Amino acid sequence: MATSKPLPPRFAAPLALALLLALALVADFLWASSSSSLRITTLTPSPSKTVKGKRAKDVERVVGHLNATYADLPAPRWDWEEMPAAPVPRLDGAAVQIGDLLYVFAGYGSLDHVHSHVDVYNFTSNTWTERFDMPKEMAHSHLGMVSDGRYIYAVSGQYGPQCRASINRNFVFDTETKEWNELPPLPLPRYAPATQLWRGRLHVMGGGKEDRHEPGLEHWSLAVKDGKALENEWRAEVPIPRGGPHRACVVANDKLFVIGGQEGDFMAKPGSPIFKCVRRHEVVYGDVYMLDDGAKWKQVSPMPKPDSHIEFAWVVINHSIVIVGGTTEKHPITKKMILVGEVFRFDLETLTWSVIGRMPFRIKTALAGYWEGWLYFTSGQRDRGPDNPGPKKVVGSMWRTRLHL
Ligand SMILES: *[C@@H]1O[C@H](CO)[C@@H](O)[C@H](O)[C@H]1NC(C)=O
Ligand SMILES: *[C@@H]1O[C@H](CO)[C@@H](O)[C@H](O)[C@H]1NC(C)=O
Ligand SMILES: *[C@@H]1O[C@H](CO)[C@@H](O)[C@H](O)[C@H]1NC(C)=O
Repeated sequence: MATSKPLPPRFAAPLALALLLALALVADFLWASSSSSLRITTLTPSPSKTVKGKRAKDVERVVGHLNATYADLPAPRWDWEEMPAAPVPRLDGAAVQIGDLLYVFAGYGSLDHVHSHVDVYNFTSNTWTERFDMPKEMAHSHLGMVSDGRYIYAVSGQYGPQCRASINRNFVFDTETKEWNELPPLPLPRYAPATQLWRGRLHVMGGGKEDRHEPGLEHWSLAVKDGKALENEWRAEVPIPRGGPHRACVVANDKLFVIGGQEGDFMAKPGSPIFKCVRRHEVVYGDVYMLDDGAKWKQVSPMPKPDSHIEFAWVVINHSIVIVGGTTEKHPITKKMILVGEVFRFDLETLTWSVIGRMPFRIKTALAGYWEGWLYFTSGQRDRGPDNPGPKKVVGSMWRTRLHL
């Protein structure tokens, strides 16, 4: 597959500068003409900043001054408390909460190392209390996962480090007996598919296809009860209008919601023996799809900005879905990935969104939980700093804040 080559530097620098000036003009215009509450800071390039070597910095500085799709949205600052960090840093892991326990699965420790175990955090004692292994055959990242309060269903995902392919095997863990079992395989492998339990069936939809990149639209379900499949095969359901990985999938008020996500992702470099990840074209979106009758997907209000990498970054509280962090559309000039640091609320009565708070930093694939008035998140990949929303360190840190909706 052809990748678009970056411009040679002698063209890229003047072009970037021209774009900066154009953006400055647009920003000035918006600043002057808009009476909305959106904070738009004007960019005033001074001649000294055009000195060679400083341009890259200026381009990065622009990130904070772009339109709402790329910039941080205005949001109240919240006080966050740092709690004990997970035993390992973790990116693209999975998590489910059962009572006061958060089960944190798998994930990359680094691009070349994946975890094959589960760490458990207790929200009452605020300690990491347990660690146990996953089956060797189970995927190590980008799993679909859901729990009924006792059994944890773990669906497909990527097997191995870097950008290896996804698999179609599915497992179930009984949190009481601590036993693992296998469920019938998906008809096809899926990478980070949307997964939920709805009306007695395990639903799996969207995600990326085996190559990680091509969006899957297929939607399947399997009747399950008490950790057992009641059928031998997955049933085809109404396909989701837009495919792709890294979406929040939530059942609330007896409706199935699929929120945000992206089309495309990194994929393995052809012929690379280590399946080295290379960046491919991605489109991040904030679309929200709802299934209430099982027959037709309805599109409802989109998120306040495109948001992906939120598959386990949500909780449902008091008729609201609360989502933390993620990634938004890439920067239009630098093409760099941009992380999200807002906390979003989706009101399940009005089906509308609001931005309710800000995280201590921007972070993708955070794993969220809620217990007795506290909103928690742990793990993921965080930003480079308050002024740079690009991705940097993979962390295991755990944070919490008081939540009042
Ligand atoms: C921001 O800019 C992009 C690219 O020009 C555009 O597609 C998008 O609609 C803009 N978003 C907002 C909120 O103005
Ligand atoms: C979590 O910790 C608290 C306090 O130590 C304990 O009482 C509770 O049983 C623990 N939860 C579970 C599910 O083990
Ligand atoms: C949820 O609603 C209950 C009852 O109104 C309230 O006491 C509680 O504080 C609310 N929780 C949050 C997180 O706002």
